[in-house]
Amino acid sequence: MQFVNSKILPFDNPLDSTVSMKIFHTIENARTACREAHRARKSLGFVPTMGALHQGHLSLVRAARAACDVVAVSIFVNPLQFAPNEDLAKYPRTLERDCALLEAEKVDFVFAPSAEEMYPGNATTYVTVDGLSNHLCGHSRPGHFRGVATVVSKLFHILEPDLAFFGQKDAVQVAVLRRMVRDLNMKVKIEAGPIVRETDGLAMSSRNVYLRPEERQQALVLFQSLEKVRQSYDKGERNTTRLIAAAKPLFDAAPAVRLDYFEIVDPDTFETVAEITRPSLVAVAAFAGSARLIDNIVLG
Ligand code: PAF
Repeated sequence: MQFVNSKILPFDNPLDSTVSMKIFHTIENARTACREAHRARKSLGFVPTMGALHQGHLSLVRAARAACDVVAVSIFVNPLQFAPNEDLAKYPRTLERDCALLEAEKVDFVFAPSAEEMYPGNATTYVTVDGLSNHLCGHSRPGHFRGVATVVSKLFHILEPDLAFFGQKDAVQVAVLRRMVRDLNMKVKIEAGPIVRETDGLAMSSRNVYLRPEERQQALVLFQSLEKVRQSYDKGERNTTRLIAAAKPLFDAAPAVRLDYFEIVDPDTFETVAEITRPSLVAVAAFAGSARLIDNIVLG
């Protein structure tokens, strides 16, 4: 594997005991810190991120802070989960700002490796979660979940957390990682945090910064279409074809938004369901300008 876009990171303070939040760029330093926590019998909570942090990430950090003695956050824009035509080069990188936010949340340390540190030139091992990875976003982004599962399993091996926190906005990612943890007998427990929204309902995402004003306005259609499904469900409709048919026309009024998928699926297998008779995931993805946005709700 070979990657571009990694540069020397601006600071590294592993040995400075006057600094409360440590920032590690090497696997060795991060591993040493985690092992020390484990030796001291402290529980370790871990929030993996790609940086460009928003309130959704910070809500996961707070959940980790409430549940664990030591909190670690990784910031790594993982090249392996981006297809060549995707936004790896322009993905927002705001390490200094992110670290300031994390310090305010009393995070113990940040692991911010370079791409070379995570993927030495001759690395050829991947983690693939068959089946699940091909649904919803996996269908539109082939190879994406292989990249996610590979990097997250590497991070789990490096940090050996007790609990790891992910946002429910990426429902397939959560399911893929839960399956990976189960199938590979990893000791970590996965926790999923609720979707955090802007006041008008748009799900928070690091990619929202790509949206031009008109796209930002029309991007609300994702949330509105999910709400429409919820309203029809609340009125008694259970047939998923009719539920989706009632909501999809909202996209006609949002020409800046191109629908990728709108599906109602089983939240464990991601197979489509015909009638909602038990908890089901209503998931939507769409492109707005250069941003790909996702959102979901659970019904039933
Ligand atoms: O959800 C994300 O930000 C990424 O997919 C993750 C889990 C940090 C892996 O790179």
